[in-house]
This record gives sequence, C-alpha cells and structure tokens, in this order.
Amino acid sequence: MNNSTALQWIANNYATATANRKLLDTLFPADVAAEAQKFHRQIPGFEATPLRRLSALAAKTGVKEILVKDESLRLGLNAFKVLGGSYAIYKRLQQIHAKGQQLAFDEMRSSNLYADGEPQVFVAATDGNHGIGVAWAARELGYKAIIYVHQLTSGARIEAIARQGARVVVVPGTYDDAVREAGADAEKNGWQVISDTSWEGYEEIPAWVMQGYTTMLAEAQQQMKAMAISKPTHVFVQGGVGALAAATVGYFKQLYYDNPPRFVVTEPEAAACLYSSCRIADGKPHSFPGDLDTIMAGLACGDPSPLAWNILRDYADVFITCPDYVAARGMRVYGAPAGADPRVISGESGAVTLGALLTITEPKYAALRQKIGLDKNAQVLLINTEGDTDPQDYLKIVWDGRFPLPENQERI
Ligand SMILES: Cc1ncc(COP(=O)(O)O)c(C=O)c1O
Repeated sequence: MNNSTALQWIANNYATATANRKLLDTLFPADVAAEAQKFHRQIPGFEATPLRRLSALAAKTGVKEILVKDESLRLGLNAFKVLGGSYAIYKRLQQIHAKGQQLAFDEMRSSNLYADGEPQVFVAATDGNHGIGVAWAARELGYKAIIYVHQLTSGARIEAIARQGARVVVVPGTYDDAVREAGADAEKNGWQVISDTSWEGYEEIPAWVMQGYTTMLAEAQQQMKAMAISKPTHVFVQGGVGALAAATVGYFKQLYYDNPPRFVVTEPEAAACLYSSCRIADGKPHSFPGDLDTIMAGLACGDPSPLAWNILRDYADVFITCPDYVAARGMRVYGAPAGADPRVISGESGAVTLGALLTITEPKYAALRQKIGLDKNAQVLLINTEGDTDPQDYLKIVWDGRFPLPENQERI
C-alpha cells in the first residue's frame, strides 16, 4: 500500500480554453435529472438519502458549511452506484422494447417483456459497488446478472454481489482487465454490458449511467434549498474512472453555468488516472500504470472513461491525489464527529474527499486553497459515496487505527 505523506494537486489549465458546451448539453441536458429522479422514485422502497450538515466540523476547519450527501443509505445497498446501473438498464429496455417511450418500473419486468423467450442477461465489471447495483436491479426485475471482478477484490465485496443473486467471475489482473473480459464474453454470448466506463464505440450506456447519478445531485440541491443554502461554492468529488465526477461537474455546471462551484476531483495516489491525464495536458485520457494498490477499492481504476474525461478536462478546476491515510482520516472523522454533528459511516472511497478537505487546511496547502478560493465563506459539498462496504476493513481502520496520520502531520 502507498502511504507517502503529501497530497499532490494540479490546477486544470486546459479547462476554459477548450470547453465543449455541445457535449455538456448532450450528456447533461437541462431535464436529465428530472427524468432520472422520476424513474428512481418508482422503485419500491426508494427514498432520498440524507444531506448531513457538519456545522461543528465546518467551524473547526474554517469554512462556512460542510454538507455531506450520505449515500451509505441508498436503497439499503451501502453505495450510490445503483443509481447509474438501474437507470442504464431502464434506458436500454426502453430502447429495445418501447421505441424510446417511457416504461414504468413494473413494465420493465422480464415476465412482461420476455414472456416467450430467454430474458436479456446483464453483465458488468466492477470494483464492487457498480456490480452490486447492476445485480440488484437485474434481480428486482427478474433478469440474470454476471459480474466480473478482479483478483484482488475482497471476499466481502464478492459475497455482497453474490447475495444479490449474480454469478461472479474473478478475472486475473486489475479492474481494467475485468472490464475487457466482461466485454469480450458479452460479445461472444449476446449479453448486454452495463458498464460505468466507456470505450470507443461504447458510449450510450455509460452516458446513461452518468445521467442516473444526477438523481443524487438533484436531491442534494433540493435539500440545500430546504436548508436555505442557495448552492455549494465547492464540490469535492471522488474519481475512479471519472463517471461520478463527470456527472457531478455536468449537473452543477448546467445549473450554474456562469458561476459554477469549484470542482476538486480527488483520487488515490496509486490510481491517479485523471490527475495524470490533466498533468499530461494534451486533452486526451491517459492510463495510470501499476498495480493500483490502494485501500480505496472503488477508486482503483487505471483507465479513465473517455466520455467522462472529456467533461472533466473541460470543466474540473483541480485534480488531487491522496495517500491512503487521507481516506482513513476521513473515515475516522466521519465516525467520531465534532460537537453535535451527526455520525456518518463512510468507507475508504467515500471518505477520501473529507480527508482531503481536512488535509488542505494545513499551511503548506495555502496555494491550493487560494487557487480554489476555499475560505471562511466556502460552502463545501461532499458525497459520502459508500458506507462500510467492507465491514472488516472498516473496523481495522476506524477502531484499530490502521493507516494513521504521519508523525509530522498537523491536526486540526
Ligand atoms: C464508493 C465509490 N465511490 C466513488 C467511485 C468512483 O466512481 P467512478 O468510477 O465513476 O469515478 C466508485 C466507483 O466504483 C465507488 O465505488
């Protein structure tokens, strides 16, 4: 595991020079979140997740607000990812069976659409959470799911996918190898890939996955309004292949085109494909080499999604990379809150943005704070993208203190 001491950051100078408004309008049209929300609200038991307000922590950190969209409570699945997989399955079934007209959730059931034949099989590669989401949606609707994971995926994550009734295939190599094998097997067998990452010639479904995530962002926006907070000034968002970050940037950029929040994309230092692509600065996505060994399993991706990258390249403000202790710090602070703040259960990939926010309050990150205007007026939105998706590892970090802060690190 990597555990160097410093967080690295790079300002995205490419951003405003090239911005492609057409792509933004195509991927995130004004009504996209309303359509996604309309679909998700039909799911039995669906509820908005809470937006947590960490006022005592904000005061300690020197910002006005820290708001946390708590996805550990999403549909009982402990992560936000189901929003994307379920919406993409909906859009695909709509395309095949309803000529693009809306299908109600009940009409999507395999018993309605495939009464006389073999139902569609849905396939996905995953670091864990996307696979659970696809498997869950497939099972709810009576379809089969086959989920591909890489060899380092923890037993707890594999079991969580299998509990949703999916067949799990373990692939040698990394997440990116699992993506390739899932694609090849699906092509051979006529299965439908529901991928959160895109590649040449395969963009429609990953676009739907990203659009599905906007339900969460629209909820957050509605919840902020109810708290009389007009908008976030800063959004820190985790990056794996970049689909979540692109959805976040796309949603808020459309809403506040001329005065958007500042977007800070946060990755593990051992899997920093978006940061590296920004650094290379030729406008293209670039793979990050190595074994992607990080505790942030959901963010352990070496290949950016090109579709997502195009949005981030044009509109993200800053990319940062974090050693593993930054995520561990975020998990502990969420778990033992300041003052009367609510407790949030947050896993490694969920907590890294809080860890990053706390870390950059140190004097040595003054230039970064200045670059993004992070000061006492800042209203920071974070997304706790997952709860304790690996419960044993969660306790090793939060109770047993694994991945401690380095000796010389300042405390707030
Ligand atoms: C918990 C969690 N957070 C964030 C992400 C990052 O999402 P993306 O791969 O779209 O960048 C993932 C991806 O699986 C995840 O599982």
